Amino acid sequence: MATEFSHEANQSPATAERRAEILANPGFGDYFSDHMVTIDWEGDYKTGGTWYDARVHPYGPLTLDPASAVFHYGQEIFEGIKGYRHADGSVWTFRPEKNAARFANSARRLSLPELPAETFIESLRELVKADEAWVPTGDGEAFYFRPFMIATEAYLGVRPAKHVQYHVIGSPAGNYFGTPEPVDIWLSTTYARAGEGGTGAAKCGGNYAASMIAQTEGEKHGCKQVIFKDPHRGDAIEELGGMNVFFIFGKENKIVTPELTGTILEGVTRSSLIQLAKDRGMTVEERAITLTEWREGVANGDITEIFACGTAAVVAPIGKLKAEDFEIPAPTEHFGEISKSLREELVGIQTGVVEDRHGWMTRLI
Ligand code: COI
Repeated sequence: MATEFSHEANQSPATAERRAEILANPGFGDYFSDHMVTIDWEGDYKTGGTWYDARVHPYGPLTLDPASAVFHYGQEIFEGIKGYRHADGSVWTFRPEKNAARFANSARRLSLPELPAETFIESLRELVKADEAWVPTGDGEAFYFRPFMIATEAYLGVRPAKHVQYHVIGSPAGNYFGTPEPVDIWLSTTYARAGEGGTGAAKCGGNYAASMIAQTEGEKHGCKQVIFKDPHRGDAIEELGGMNVFFIFGKENKIVTPELTGTILEGVTRSSLIQLAKDRGMTVEERAITLTEWREGVANGDITEIFACGTAAVVAPIGKLKAEDFEIPAPTEHFGEISKSLREELVGIQTGVVEDRHGWMTRLI
């Protein structure tokens, strides 16, 4: 059954001038639209519960009891998904059923209630209906939805919360790294972001919190992102602090990405790029890739391009790999041709200028 959302309009939205100023240079994650979505849940994790009071209301601070479980035990999950403006003014989103399914998987892992996929998709539609004017039109820009779920029950015992809230906020978004040039990456040898049987495949705040110390270490060495090693396999690499990683073997027309081992996040961009590469006749390998293969592949010219990918960053070229005691040079100083054209094809599908041959797009408004 479709969820009914009530609406409360923001009485002091951003002025048209202020919004235009923000949309002229949205950056990433700095500005938020005038409204947000909230849905409450009450119940028992073991026996079930009810989602109720779905509402679109003015964006603003949440009032939560300081004993809310999210503040103590980190019962929290989130998603990242974008809305794209097409030439006729309509707004579309990309494979939302995949984000909804991943959100449900993350919920299960964190003992949170599952939100039905239709309600997840409807919540994006309701927010963008209220804040349509915030969807940017610039090249590579989109409206970034951040759905999240938090345990709001005030209770200090350790067990799944009986009161939970789902929210969606929206933010106009441009380039995640602020530059189209390759970004250097720091290899964390001290810290892991996930472990076997842990939460690596769930999109929960704790994984990102755990990655920050390594990212700060990387920043001291001039790197904007950190890459982690696969905790199971010696010097095999796993994923970045918040993105998946791909290697292009240009001469062999081959693309390689670490396989999903349970510690890696199953990226929607990752799986879409795998499909687009297969469509082009490229060989796609999902397997362990080691630092030795990285070092040798760049040195002998087999690895011609490396990129990071995710909803926020789309496809972002990687330059050097830096570590405490070694460095692997960048395979190319520029945005490599294959990475660039995969990005253009993906963004083309998302923005309606390339045929959506896999039926990936869903119209929101
Ligand atoms: C996304 O790509 O949407 C993410 O959630 C990653 C985060 C680094 C912004």
